[in-house]
Order: sequence, then C-alpha cells, then structure tokens
Amino acid sequence: MSEVHVHKVQPAWRERALIDNETYQKWYAESVADPERFWAEHGKRIDWFKPYGKVKNTTFDAPVSIKWFEDGELNVSHNCIDRHLATRGDHVAIIWEGDDPAEDRKITYRELHEQVCRLANVLKKHGVRRGDRVTIYMPMIPEAAYAMLACTRVGAVHSVVFGGFSPDSLAGRIVDAESTFVITADEGLRGGKAIPLKENTDKAVDIAARHHVMVKNVLVVRRTGGRIGWADGRDLWYHEETAAVSADNEPERMNAEDPLFILYTSGSTGKPKGVLHTSGGYLVYASMTHQYVFDYHDGDIYWCTADVGWVTGHSYILYGPLANGATTLMFEGVPNYPSVSRFWEVVDKHKVNIFYTAPTAIRALMGAGDAPVKNTSRRSLRVLGSVGEPINPEAWEWYFNVVGDGNVPIVDTWWQTETGGILITPLPGATDLKAGSATRPFFGVQPQLVDNEGKVLEGATDGNLCIVDSWPGQMRTVYGDHERFVQTYFSTYKGKYFTGDGCRRDADGYYWITGRVDDVINVSGHRMGTAEVESALVSHPKVSEAAVVGYPHDIKGQGIYCYVTLMAGEQGSDELRKELVAHVRKEIGAIASPDKLQFAPGLPKTRSGKIMRRILRKIAEDDFGALGDTSTLADPAVVDDLVTNRQNKK
Ligand code: WTA
Repeated sequence: MSEVHVHKVQPAWRERALIDNETYQKWYAESVADPERFWAEHGKRIDWFKPYGKVKNTTFDAPVSIKWFEDGELNVSHNCIDRHLATRGDHVAIIWEGDDPAEDRKITYRELHEQVCRLANVLKKHGVRRGDRVTIYMPMIPEAAYAMLACTRVGAVHSVVFGGFSPDSLAGRIVDAESTFVITADEGLRGGKAIPLKENTDKAVDIAARHHVMVKNVLVVRRTGGRIGWADGRDLWYHEETAAVSADNEPERMNAEDPLFILYTSGSTGKPKGVLHTSGGYLVYASMTHQYVFDYHDGDIYWCTADVGWVTGHSYILYGPLANGATTLMFEGVPNYPSVSRFWEVVDKHKVNIFYTAPTAIRALMGAGDAPVKNTSRRSLRVLGSVGEPINPEAWEWYFNVVGDGNVPIVDTWWQTETGGILITPLPGATDLKAGSATRPFFGVQPQLVDNEGKVLEGATDGNLCIVDSWPGQMRTVYGDHERFVQTYFSTYKGKYFTGDGCRRDADGYYWITGRVDDVINVSGHRMGTAEVESALVSHPKVSEAAVVGYPHDIKGQGIYCYVTLMAGEQGSDELRKELVAHVRKEIGAIASPDKLQFAPGLPKTRSGKIMRRILRKIAEDDFGALGDTSTLADPAVVDDLVTNRQNKK
C-alpha cells in the first residue's frame, strides 16, 4: 500500500471549530456509555410541542423495533421554518441558482413560510391527510423544497423520486407507496437541456392505473413553459392553486415516530425498497450532524450539490440546514455547464463557506485541469465535504490542494439512505485527516468489523461493516414490508445492523470504506442493484439471460458491465447492443445506462445453476489471471469463451 499522508488539524480550523479533539473524545465516550442520557440532552436541539419522556427504545434482535423520543410531539416544518421567524425571518433560507447563470433567487424564511403554508392548504383542499403518501418528481427548484415541507406540515409522507428516473420506475414507486397525489413540473432544465417531467408523469400515472393505483391529482409547477398534455379534473397548475388559498396554516402535531418520508433505494435483490424515516429522531440527527460535521456557524452560506431526489438532498440540502436556520443553496444545473468553472463561480458569486459534493464530480473536474479552478477566488470556503462513494486519495489531494488551496479541511462523510445521516466522518476542528479515509464514528455510532462468519474482528483489520446499536436517524422499516427490513439488514449478522459495505480499520482506529460487498454497485455515487439492470435486460424479447457486474471506472467510480445471452436464433450486433442500452434506459432511467455490454453464448454457472459473479467481475476487470477455481462450474468452457470474446474486443 502507498504511504498515507496525514493532514493535521490546522490551527485556524481548530480556532473556529465548535468541537475540538478533546470534546470529540469526551462526547463520544459519553454517547456510547450512556446513549439514553446523551440523546435526552441533544434531542432538545429541536422544538417539541410535547417534550419526550422516553428517549431510546430499540432492539436489533427479532422482531427488530426502533423507536426514539417515542412520546414526543413535533412538526418538522415548524422546526425548519416557523421557529426561526422571530429571530431570522428576513434571513435567506434558500439561495436558488438556476441552470442558466443569469437566473437566481433568494427566499427568506418569511417567504418560505408563506409558500409552504399556501401549498399545505392546497394539499388539504384536495384531500391530502396525515399519513397519505405524496409523490414528488421535480427538478431542483425551490418548489421542490416547498413541496417536501408542505407534506411534513400536514403530516403527509413524501416520496421523492429523482427526476432522472423513467416513467416505469416512477410508476413502480407510486404503486408501492399507493400514492394518489403527485407534484411535478412541466419540464426540468439541466445543462441547457429540457427533461420532460410532466410527460413522464402522465405515462407513469397510466401505468400505475393498470396496477390499480389511481392518481387523483397531479400538481404542476410551470418551470419552462414547454408544451405538455393536460388532463382536466386531474391536473392542477401550482401557481393557480397556491394563489387561491390562504397564506395561514397551522402545522399538524405529529408523534416523533410518525412517518416523515419514504425514499426508494436499491439493494442486492428484488425491486427498490421504500426506506422509511420517521419525524423526531431523524430531524435531531440530521440537524446535529449538519452542525458539527460541517462546523456550521450562524450566517454561513452552505451548499450541497446533491439532488433532492437522493437522501443527501433530503438530509443536507433541506432538513438538517433548515432545522439549523442556515442559508442553503439549491443548484438546478450541472458541474460543467456553461463551463467546468461553474461550481467555483457559484462559490464566488454567493460567497459559499461550506461546499459538499461527490467524488465523481471531483474526478471529472480534476480531469479538466487546474486552470478552471485557479481562475476563481474560492476565498470564502471553510469546509469541503465528500459523499456517496469512496474518494480515491488522488482526487482527495486535488480537492484539498487545488480547490481548497491546502488550507480547507475535507470531511469525507460515510453514510447511507438507511442511516438518515452521516455515521463516519472527520470533524473539521477535531480530526487529523487521511486522504481516502472517512476516519472516525460520529457521536453515538458504534461500528464493528466482522468476518464472513460473523466473528468480531479487533484492532487493525479488514471486514464487513456493521453497526451494533441504534442512532436516532436510523430507518425504521421498509415501507409495507417489515420482514424484508429484518431480513435485509439484521439477519446476516444476528443482532447487528449490516451496512453491505466492506471496510478496513487502521492502527489509529480510522475507518476506510472499501465499497459494497453485496450485489449493489455504485455508479457516480448512485446506488444500483445489479438485479434491477438484469431484470430490465431480460424483459427485452431477444434476451434470454443476463448477468450484470460493476467494474472500476475512472470517473464514475464503477461502471455497469452486462453479459447478455440471446434467445436461440438471435445474433449479437452493434445495433442490438444500442437497442439493449436504450431499453435499460427506458426501463429504469439514464442513470442505469450500461457502459459495456458483451454478448455471451453462455454464463458461468455452478452445477446447481447459480451464476458465478466472482468470475464475471474478474473478466470485466480484465483480471484474467485470477479467475480462481473454476472446477465447480457446470461447463468450464464457458469461461474460455467469455475471456476470448473480451480479449478480441480490446
Ligand atoms: C457508499 C448516500 C465510501 C457506500 C449517502 C454506502 C460511501 C452507499 C461514502 C450508500 C463515503 C457513501 N465513502 N463510500 N464517504 N458515502 N458511500 O444510500 O457504499 O445513496 O453503502 O447514500 O454509498 O449510498 P446511498
């Protein structure tokens, strides 16, 4: 292994920081010695209509049950908006930066309050009640934030679907959540290109109807003014509806354990799971991590470049920052439009202090050289963050030295949709940094490494990453399928939450996430189940069988490699390859576009018929020498065919 370069906490970081190393050590020790007491104290950081008496009631043994602050009552939109009005009503809550650099907007907390109250009244007028599921399929515009907050205000459960997903994927999520109210826009705009959100929604609503879920209303924000279809009686214009209702709305009193949102995410098997988060614990955890991980101070301008369609957008564009009364920047566009300097131009334009992005973006921008960064100032930056996939040390050093000019700390934050908030991360004033390591656990988080048999591994070692006790931001269940929740996360290693990630712990107790150990791949920070791509491929009439694996990709982290066996009589061709790629994009969305597709006369299987993915991964990686033992294969010649084919392609 190459030598690890340690970047010590710089005096300027420590002076400004909320938490120094001694405080981290002390709080961490307290948080694991007596979680009840620790969280009783920190739960008070948000407003409760009715204070909680009970703090923690959790068990990872079957039947798994997770409850935090269970007798407390609150409202999330009250916490993110109303409680700030007296002290910072005229402060900017959201800075919106459009796809076109000439377009931006600032929304104060008072304006946010009015918009969210109006939309809450629209929801109520159309019969949306506590517990109802509302699907949000939106571009990165302020109305997406209003929509999420308005749901929380009336006690409805939102399910945000990323705008890059296809009508089929959207329909699947509408059906699973039995959601009858959808909020969308006419079109999205990214990198100068329009995305037909309303048209996709129309298709999705039709597909959902065939599965007996009838969407009653589609509320449409006018973003581009592009031509769209219209169903009278079902479709409603956002601007007309919000203008016609009162600007006053009382938030519902919700129980801490009432559902807040569902967010679908991919796993190693089956369809995407509806990860369910609840109200109290989630908000406490999102706001606390936002404050301490980013060393957020009052008045800081904070920018997370994620999309609200992912959990990072939920916790760290919206809920964490707004619960803390921060100014959060929402960006509609992409890193390379109109030029590869865009991120840094936006940083200068809005004087951004805290900047949080993904390794894939850093690697892509690194490829464009230093000049597009160096011709901007970036003097306002005080903390840089990374999330979504392992960051390779080269990209880390470039982010540190070029973007941060060597004097801004990087927080490499490890977490998951399921965890609600950041679990392993440096704290800017407390943690010496190592390029490529997520470093140490946040307060209350107890990581453990185990071998494949579940034996606990101590000291410096490599293993499967588990978490042994609950934290307030943890998911509570898989929507509508608690058994699947227990099976997926708590059955591999009994009594422990299994993350699906592999991890190394070094001699200093630092954690280095090595990537997924299951059949999930991480493409540009987006989670993808290989089984989902396989089932999209086999739904094509010419495909008989498919196996999908990840392979290392310079920019995306991992690329999607597909092995496809055709129906008897079909011939592989470049044309068919294109057709199959287009088919997957149609079935799932552009984010699932196969990078490589190899026609294979047969797939390597064990005698019991199980596909040997280990071998397929090696071939995709061009690691032909390390195919391992193939003697258990039903037909070892299949492997020679695959290798020859692969080599001929190169
Ligand atoms: C990966 C995103 C290494 C990991 C918040 C995890 C990371 C999956 C990091 C969750 C990181 C996320 N270093 N790997 N800092 N952050 N991952 O649900 O494999 O979209 O299990 O949540 O991304 O992806 P998800």
